[in-house]
Amino acid sequence: MKKGLFITFEGSEGSGKSTQIALIETELKKKGLDVLLIREPGGVKISELIRKVLLDVKNTEMNNECEVLLYMAARAQLVGEVIRPALACGKVVLCDRFLDSTIVYQGYGHGMDLKTIQDIGAFSTQKVRPDMTLLFDIETEEGLRRAGQNKDRIEQRSLDYHKRVRSGYLQLAKEDPGRFRVIRVDRGKEEIFQEVKAHIEHCLSQQ
Ligand code: TMP
Repeated sequence: MKKGLFITFEGSEGSGKSTQIALIETELKKKGLDVLLIREPGGVKISELIRKVLLDVKNTEMNNECEVLLYMAARAQLVGEVIRPALACGKVVLCDRFLDSTIVYQGYGHGMDLKTIQDIGAFSTQKVRPDMTLLFDIETEEGLRRAGQNKDRIEQRSLDYHKRVRSGYLQLAKEDPGRFRVIRVDRGKEEIFQEVKAHIEHCLSQQ
């Protein structure tokens, strides 16, 4: 099977990853690459519907188990409908969040069992794993400030919750330095972009 490249963008609230993923999409398309940009939760009709349920501030009664399974359900649909076929035909898939988000937001954030989440994750993703993950790291208070006032159900959580998310990400990066690249975001947009570009070009050159 011809294989594309799967690159995920991760980070806590207000880290600027969505801006950078859009910039790099444009850059790679200019170079003539076949690029697919998607986001999680979402990316296809069913997963976008699940996203609405997950982020709706009115859904205060949602329990942690339900929350994990809904993120995984959205992911399972996206992997089967779009990510696997795109990789099979050699595309560069850029995904704004993936399984690492569930490990840190639900696992580290809620203190749920990480092994259980990883097992459900392996099932939901059909074991599709990113070739490289760019982690945009920002100091928690600053990230929440940048995220603004209009907060969704997850963003509304406490400062301590978001601090656990950030340290969860840094822990994952420490455990898997082969896959993760940690990008500091306390710099100008252009400087960050140059670093993102260098990492992606290196990854493309290794194919
Ligand atoms: P976004 O703001 O990056 O679009 O992501 C939506 C929110 O969902 C964000 O607050 C992070 C959260 N999230 C999780 O809690 N678990 C997950 O698995 C994913 C993909 C996102």
